[in-house]
Amino acid sequence: MKTTPPPDAGGETAAGEYEKQLAEERAVIDRLDAEILERFNERLATAARIGELKRRLGLPVRDTDREVQVVQRLMRLNRGSLLANRYMVKVFATLMAAARDVQGAPSRPADGFGTPALFAIFGNPVVHSLSPVMHNAAFGATGFNGVYAAIRVKDIRLAVAGFRSLGLRGASITLPHKETVMACLDYIDPWARRIKAVNTLVNENGTLKGFNTDWTGALKALGERVAVAGRRVGVIGAGGAARAVAHGVMSAGGAVSLFNRTTEKGAALAAELGVSFKPLGQFDAEGIEILVNTTSAGMAPQTEQSPVPREQLRPDMVVMDIVYHPLRTRLLRDAEAAGCATIDGLAMLVHQGALQFELWTGMTAPIDIMRMAAEAELTAGH
Ligand code: ATR
Repeated sequence: MKTTPPPDAGGETAAGEYEKQLAEERAVIDRLDAEILERFNERLATAARIGELKRRLGLPVRDTDREVQVVQRLMRLNRGSLLANRYMVKVFATLMAAARDVQGAPSRPADGFGTPALFAIFGNPVVHSLSPVMHNAAFGATGFNGVYAAIRVKDIRLAVAGFRSLGLRGASITLPHKETVMACLDYIDPWARRIKAVNTLVNENGTLKGFNTDWTGALKALGERVAVAGRRVGVIGAGGAARAVAHGVMSAGGAVSLFNRTTEKGAALAAELGVSFKPLGQFDAEGIEILVNTTSAGMAPQTEQSPVPREQLRPDMVVMDIVYHPLRTRLLRDAEAAGCATIDGLAMLVHQGALQFELWTGMTAPIDIMRMAAEAELTAGH
């Protein structure tokens, strides 16, 4: 179908040739669209037959495990192709939503009139946040009628006033507002108070409540690979993430050893938590069974940076990084090479998001779908 312009064509002749090619290529698109549409409808007709079989077998229409398998297979098939996973996942999420409608389980209207419940992430910056794709995928997979947007917020007090007057159902709070937001709320969960940070707002019939799902998210991410109770956990860093991880570990009966680049900051947090402290420069893995990096060391573009020397990593250690850009950080690559079990940065992100989803909707979070959506976005174009 492709034609090439004559090599020495200039001016009007070349323009005329390009216009002809454009018309031809558009005709190809029109034909492909018609084919795709026909296939979409074939897929829906098949879904309708499956719906009937499910009804006869007494099976539920909604089968999140199956949907996860379908998307995982497609992501494998799509490897290396032109269509980025982030778009591919959206197309198929939409198709699966249409299939659920056909099978008699349409999206649940939030208020009985079909108006979606509104959610947002407030932060600065938020442009690279994975939360919108992750939560919108969860809404799609569960049929919850919600919409989640990223909003860059400079003044958190004004944003919370807007949240109240617009009647948002919930919000995620990220840097730099996790502490300052606390002064704007009607209620703060005791754990969030202890951690001195709120990352989740819940609107309960006009009462604005603040929670922290970072610490439980960290704990769940660890809990997937290792039992924390009775273990010694090395936590690297002394910022908000370190505080959340340390609280999570201690609440589950683990013992924390804190390491930080700047001695005063690390020693102050260690004293507040009642745990041991060493400057990061004197890091020693002796006795450490689980290691968690909560600093930005290793984050792109510093992808060759690791917070600890690789000689310190032993095969019996479990190593978790909260950095997820890149997903395989230098620390995790070193840990794998040393034979350690590893947990990547998406694990905590997805778990804290799943806990938010459950607070907002009262439904079980489709955690695998959330992880896949976040991963597809993160590896967009690959
Ligand atoms: P957050 O609230 O996200 O944890 P933060 O409060 O800015 O962020 O804390 C960042 C932590 O990462 C700090 O403990 C910081 O160490 P300093 O106290 O020495 O500043 C640590 N950090 C950041 N970049 C680091 C690097 N390249 N190597 C080691 N530690 C680093």
